[in-house]
Amino acid sequence: MNAASGSTPTQQLNAPEWVKHEGMKKWVAKIAALTQPDRIEWCDGSQEEYDRLCEQMVQAGTLRRLNPAKRPNSYLAWSAPSDVARVEGRTFICSEKEEDAGPTNNWLAPDEMRRILDGLFAGCMRGRTMYVIAFSMGPLGSPIAHIGVEISDSPYVVANMRIMTRMGRKVYDVLGKDGTFVPCVHSVGKPLSPGEADVPWPCSDTKYIVHYPESREIWSFGSGYGGNALLGKKCLALRIASNMGRDQGWMAEHMLVLGVTSPRGKKMHVAAAFPSACGKTNFAMLIPPASLPGWKVTTIGDDIAWIKPGSDGRLYAINPEAGYFGVAPGTNEKTNYNCMASLRENVIFTNVALTDDGDVWWEGMGPAPAHCIDWQGNDWTPESGRKAAHPNARFTVAAVQNPAIDPEWDNPAGVPLDAFIFGGRRSDTVPLVTEARNWVEGVYMAATLGSETTAAAVGAQGVVRRDPFAMLPFCGYNMGSYFAHWLKLGKLLQEKKAPVPSIFCVNWFQTDENGKFIWPGFGENMRILKWMLERIEGSAQGTENLFGVSPRYQDITWDGLDFGLDKFAHVTSIDPAAWRKELGLHAELFDKLKGRLPTELSRLQANLVARLGE
Ligand code: OXD
Ligand code: MN
Repeated sequence: MNAASGSTPTQQLNAPEWVKHEGMKKWVAKIAALTQPDRIEWCDGSQEEYDRLCEQMVQAGTLRRLNPAKRPNSYLAWSAPSDVARVEGRTFICSEKEEDAGPTNNWLAPDEMRRILDGLFAGCMRGRTMYVIAFSMGPLGSPIAHIGVEISDSPYVVANMRIMTRMGRKVYDVLGKDGTFVPCVHSVGKPLSPGEADVPWPCSDTKYIVHYPESREIWSFGSGYGGNALLGKKCLALRIASNMGRDQGWMAEHMLVLGVTSPRGKKMHVAAAFPSACGKTNFAMLIPPASLPGWKVTTIGDDIAWIKPGSDGRLYAINPEAGYFGVAPGTNEKTNYNCMASLRENVIFTNVALTDDGDVWWEGMGPAPAHCIDWQGNDWTPESGRKAAHPNARFTVAAVQNPAIDPEWDNPAGVPLDAFIFGGRRSDTVPLVTEARNWVEGVYMAATLGSETTAAAVGAQGVVRRDPFAMLPFCGYNMGSYFAHWLKLGKLLQEKKAPVPSIFCVNWFQTDENGKFIWPGFGENMRILKWMLERIEGSAQGTENLFGVSPRYQDITWDGLDFGLDKFAHVTSIDPAAWRKELGLHAELFDKLKGRLPTELSRLQANLVARLGE
């Protein structure tokens, strides 16, 4: 490539005739001139391309082909031990003004960041192939979808993006000559000198995941893992899209979306926000217990929802993704049968263990094998005293492989929402389920969500952190303004006299004095979902408390489950001392956000303190 001229000659650009977008070609040429790849490939998204790149990665040692008799057409990748999760400390929202990023985001002035990145990206793809990956978040051509183009020097990213998004040639057809796209530049940050051998998982110790919200650009350097590298997911569909949503009157949320059908055939749709690795995929694929016959849950999405007001005034949700990038450990036939069924073939596993018969294993999948190779490539036996799979080990699989996929999951118009659920991982304090009495109370619950941290991000684990709307690492602008956007949307719905979705707060994770979960969770969460839906229909009772409405013991259907009144009292009671402390923590969060915090929320907080008393 021609660095001196600042662009790349057309013949080296290698653009196929189906790429008609001159603006995009110019941008690709500019990035190629900066990053100096050896060659450029425009991904068409075909099966042939996927198979070829996977084979190439097998040859390079990045992927292992799993035993086709056990796991057809599936692969296993092991990442570098330094590249195993999202790097929140290295994730930046570079808005023009610091206060627009707000106190919960890392910020650097765009000019300064561009100087740093120009230095890092200069020549960073030497010795590698640059892939151009056009993708659509949301059904192709849908008025609510948005297109991104990711330039990456990682074939692992190409293969994963093909599963996670609608990707390739068909996207160029929609883009045409001058369609709008979000430019995303990604490099693993490890150029190769002539003749230098590559490593199986190239990455860099220097990592930057950068978003420019005003120009709607994404730049990611140094990591090949998950949300750091698959830029359609957290970077575009949440951080950049949350900015688009604020400007255009819609919402980009860290929510699964599911359909629930009652025995009478009535169907409702629920969007639920949980922080990372809190069982979202399990909830999205829930199988109701046999003792609740006739209930059915179907999956629209497992991680992200784009929610827009429809012409009838209701809120409609789509899943912008086309696949699941889920946490493997803990998943088994009992906790999530549908997920295990989705994983039978055509899967890319990352950082799980390799069994002696060429299949995969992870903690919580079933009985441990007598021997396997752990995610770092070492011999492992149950006696080794270490985990065989990394706690943030993942699978990448197409949504259509989910046996419980909702027939409407791909509907460009989305599904109408009846309820929002917000839940954190809390071993105490927060009751099993509470229904907000109004929109503001629900926004307050969501804004003050707290959760014990997990392995999905690098950092301390098991510490409670405030994770408003489960969006702390994903909100691409000032969190106070984000709360205001939610309040504004609620007002709009009320003005239009449209049915306003109910808001519930849940906590499946309270533990007893031995640290064991009290609530059985998983499929049994259907009992709580049933109560919620009956509340929406107006047929279920509850009791008002300080924070909202909770079910009494007799309001839940207990057929087939032995869960006594004492346990129920434990998981639903409100301990005033714990809540005084909790409200103090809410006040700390609000103080941090005070520059843009809506007064409705601080007023409600003061009210709760007063109602709780000394
Ligand atoms: C995810 C996350 O990968 O939230 O979905 O970290
Ligand atoms: Mn997530």
